[in-house]
Amino acid sequence: MRSSSTGLMAGRTPRSDSSGRIIRAILRWYAHQGRSLPWRTTRSAYRILVAEIMLHQTQVTRVLRTYPEFVKRFPTLRALAAASRTDVVIAWRGLGYNRRAVHLHETARTLSLSCGGRIPTDEFRLRSLPGIGRYTAAALLVSVHHRDLPVVDVNVRRVLSRIFWRLQTTIDTRPEREIWFLAASLVPSGRGYDWMQALMDLGATICTARAPHCPDCPVRGMCRSAGVLRPSNRPARREPSLEGVPDRLYRGRVVDLLRARAGHAWVSIDLVGKSILGEFRREQKSWLMRLIHGLERDGLVLVRRTGAPSRRTLIRLA
Ligand code: ADE
Repeated sequence: MRSSSTGLMAGRTPRSDSSGRIIRAILRWYAHQGRSLPWRTTRSAYRILVAEIMLHQTQVTRVLRTYPEFVKRFPTLRALAAASRTDVVIAWRGLGYNRRAVHLHETARTLSLSCGGRIPTDEFRLRSLPGIGRYTAAALLVSVHHRDLPVVDVNVRRVLSRIFWRLQTTIDTRPEREIWFLAASLVPSGRGYDWMQALMDLGATICTARAPHCPDCPVRGMCRSAGVLRPSNRPARREPSLEGVPDRLYRGRVVDLLRARAGHAWVSIDLVGKSILGEFRREQKSWLMRLIHGLERDGLVLVRRTGAPSRRTLIRLA
């Protein structure tokens, strides 16, 4: 078995008969029902990189709205590397988690300087790039270099947990480590790419988080959770928030506001406060400054203070 210390293993582990039947049924279903998506029909490693970074935390439908324009605006890795960060963040509109735009831009610059613009074939090299973790590295090795490796995101974790364990409710899943281990044993030799895409499509269209459509599933007769999952809601994530709205959403609103101003104009934080909160009170100022310093640390905004007498704090996209 090929392996690495981070756990990406080729699929050579012996499988039970039922695993083989499950894999074949899912691949057959994918051959007929798989979605036609632009990053599946391109041979450009760069375009696949852009898609995988966008898809990591954003649903396909939203990515489909931004991706075509983004790759038209920055058609090559070199074009992206040569662009300004402001322009890249502006083109990221509609995707959220804007820090990924900064990371993608830095990755483009690093690769065009040190790798002749190629996407590395080495997992460790990939994971040294900004914003690329275990999942994205694996997704790139499979999608760009067609390696037979497991790829586990929240959707794949949900799908495999349900098929191979009898779960009680729609929010149950098995621990991530366990799923990476199982996933490594399933990758069909020579079909790692199709297998990854097939699991993603099954998770997005049939084995969905809240309301799985078990009657339409190609493995309904072999799935341990088919027809038994009770609906349940995940408890709200505990995260920093203001009056019930997560800071994460306010960060997005700040970046959206700066984008709408073409990204280059300086905006006073009083105006930012009013725009994102409706009414901006004095006691909210320290909260807003913390939010803005977070965006500054992430490389998304620049902060400037004017001198006396006005002494205002201004921000713009970095
Ligand atoms: N999510 C992550 N990668 C994906 C892909 N290649 N296709 C569809 N959804 C995805």
